[in-house]
Amino acid sequence: MSTTAAIAFLAASVLFIVGIKQLASPKTARAGNLVAGAGMLIALFAALPLLLSAQGGGVSLWKMLLIFTGILLGLVIGAFGAYKVKMTAMPQMVALFNGAGGGAAALVAAIEFAHVTRESSLTFVVAMLCAAMIGAVSLSGSVIAYLKLEGHFDKPVTYPAQQVMNGVLFVLSVLLALAMACGSHSMVLMVLFLVLALVLGVLMVLPIGGADMPVVISLLNSFTGLAVAADGFAIGNVAMIIAGTLVGSSGTILTLAMCKAMNRPVTNVLFSAFGKANGASAGAAAATGSVKSVQADEAAILLSVAGRVVIVPGYGLAVAQAQHQVRQLSDELAKKGVEVSFAIHPVAGRMPGHMNVLLAEANVPYDQLIEMDEINPEMERVDVCLIIGANDVVNPAAREDKSSPIYGMPIIEAEKAGTVIVMKRSMGKGFAGIENALFLRDNCRMLFGDAKASLQELVTLVKAD
Ligand code: TAP
Repeated sequence: MSTTAAIAFLAASVLFIVGIKQLASPKTARAGNLVAGAGMLIALFAALPLLLSAQGGGVSLWKMLLIFTGILLGLVIGAFGAYKVKMTAMPQMVALFNGAGGGAAALVAAIEFAHVTRESSLTFVVAMLCAAMIGAVSLSGSVIAYLKLEGHFDKPVTYPAQQVMNGVLFVLSVLLALAMACGSHSMVLMVLFLVLALVLGVLMVLPIGGADMPVVISLLNSFTGLAVAADGFAIGNVAMIIAGTLVGSSGTILTLAMCKAMNRPVTNVLFSAFGKANGASAGAAAATGSVKSVQADEAAILLSVAGRVVIVPGYGLAVAQAQHQVRQLSDELAKKGVEVSFAIHPVAGRMPGHMNVLLAEANVPYDQLIEMDEINPEMERVDVCLIIGANDVVNPAAREDKSSPIYGMPIIEAEKAGTVIVMKRSMGKGFAGIENALFLRDNCRMLFGDAKASLQELVTLVKAD
């Protein structure tokens, strides 16, 4: 590798690190994305001469055509996908892009394997085998995660001896890897190894519940990172090692943070087939009381005369795309002297930071956003808690009903507020598929309707009041 290429890869790596650091705060996240993107562009141009002269064949028109077609296709699909995707479908897009990354890492490893000789070091061969296996698992697992999030599976797919079968497949893959590491450099073995890993990825994700897919995607994301880092070791590319390690470690941290927010160990997410229980009966034990609906005019009065209002946004706010209307409502209430804040649950919505991103889109000031742990002790002093399209993250069953599948998950303790107003379209369940006893509590009023339409009505009424 030339000195220029080495410096360019190092510069790209520094930009990746700065970018990921900036992603940690909503204020700098946009810039962080651009900085990391610039790093990727530098890495791409630095890799071009290496790719063109790879395997000593010199620069040919055919090679150039292949490489530039690949780059063009990637650019078009990436830009089009990112431009068109709805915010609520972001996890699906991340799953697909991540799967593509895992597949690419597996292919690089498989192609490099074709050049293994008896003189090749064991570290080189082992790194490639790891990249091939982890990358292939990540590819097929991500495709299944995508299909699940798109609603193509009603329930987690389970069958007897599932974990045993997965264990057998894993052991077979390791045996094949051992055979290849010990000198059987046949491409037939490599293809078989990749097929086994692809099947393993499918079987690993099939039994996992739909609501757990964001956690799985984050875990597969870290797998892809590790596969890329292993490729980097094999082909001696420092940018791939650093970028892969960053993705691997940040994906692992995110996975653990999400599990902590749901109070479930990773093993429970991976092996419990969460969501398989019949949703109609789950959580019903705690449900007593009756549904009391409220009209928009009464809700507007309750909000206008309150001293303190806490808004709890959830997935339904994102579906309705009502972030601008909620900002308007907050502004109108503030004009009347009401203290308004937003309570943010770490797994509200369908992806990490979903509510922060949504509210940032509508320029809701960051200091109005309060984390769950900070707002809960304050809840008893809140006059009105306005829940907009949130369900599971305010479900008291998580604290009170030991039989509930979400028992133990920290929630926003909305029920402690003086009055709770819940805005949703029906008595429909949330992602966990369980009843919510909060909606039947004496201090709870349901404002039925699409969140955007209801919020628009509330803004008009509060303004006119
Ligand atoms: P959910 O529990 O999924 O509830 C969303 C509610 O929004 C639904 O009950 C739905 O009721 C309502 N809704 C849908 N469209 C609406 C619209 N247009 N207008 C008004 N309401 C609408 O949401 P949540 O409370 O945000 O909880 C998130 C769930 O995802 C949790 O179970 C969490 O564990 C899970 N999860 C999240 C993550 C991340 S990282 N965020 C990761 C893993 C799992 P109606 O149909 O009656 O309107």
